[in-house]
Amino acid sequence: MGAADELLAAIRGHGAMPRHVAIIMDGNGRWARERMLPRPVGHREGMKSVRAVVEAALEAGVEVLSLFAFSQENWQRPAAEVSALMSLLEEYIKKEARELEAQGVRVVFLGDLDRLGPVQRAAVDGVMAQTAHNSKLLLNLFISYGSRAELVRAARQIAEDVAAGRLAPDAVDEAAISGRLFTAGVPDPDLLIRTSGEMRISNFLLWQLAYTELHISPVLWPDFGRDELFRAILDYQSRDRRFGRVSA
Ligand code: IPE
Ligand code: IPE
Ligand code: MG
Repeated sequence: MGAADELLAAIRGHGAMPRHVAIIMDGNGRWARERMLPRPVGHREGMKSVRAVVEAALEAGVEVLSLFAFSQENWQRPAAEVSALMSLLEEYIKKEARELEAQGVRVVFLGDLDRLGPVQRAAVDGVMAQTAHNSKLLLNLFISYGSRAELVRAARQIAEDVAAGRLAPDAVDEAAISGRLFTAGVPDPDLLIRTSGEMRISNFLLWQLAYTELHISPVLWPDFGRDELFRAILDYQSRDRRFGRVSA
């Protein structure tokens, strides 16, 4: 038994599996720089980690895996890096779609997808349709996503509904907001992992993370894999989640 298998056995023994794990996949650039390689090489290497964590999530029985792949703010990176990331997105979908479908993974992309080029948009729409019937694991891939923009969009929809008389102002409650986010209907993350040691949220799921347990890993994303995911889950299982109340 390898280290990862022992970790998986420990997790299973413990029982309380996080239903929803979210990851801010960070550190591709630093991984490349440490090797004197161009940044896109780090992004390409990071795709392997995506495959590894998807398989590990399936093994562990996680229901929802949310990956922050490209933020709205990331559009401000140099054009060459943005275009390398967009090509990798297309390549990832081409390479993985069939396998994901066969593994029972439902792939959903969340974010301002209108900003994608036509080729990426077609690939994204294609894999979402191809895997829509699956239910073993929901794989949420956040691209062109910013949490504040998501909240602004929800506020605008509420304003429109109120102005049109479809919604009373005093019917605006937490469910009215949650139900208008990209994540509508999905339980909030139980565990958020950020790699590469950065201790910030970077505009990811601000509403949804209200009571999420945080695990900051020093490992750079291209070096993150099955065993690191299991270690994060084990850490999660040691937490006392109180939700503002007192311990049982
Ligand atoms: C994460 O790695 C991938 C994206 C944000 C697209 P980075 O590219 O942010 O890598 P660092 O943070 O510069 O090391
Ligand atoms: C957050 O990482 C976005 C993604 C991982 C997609 P960044 O590297 O863009 O965040 P900052 O700039 O360090 O806050
Ligand atoms: Mg970064």
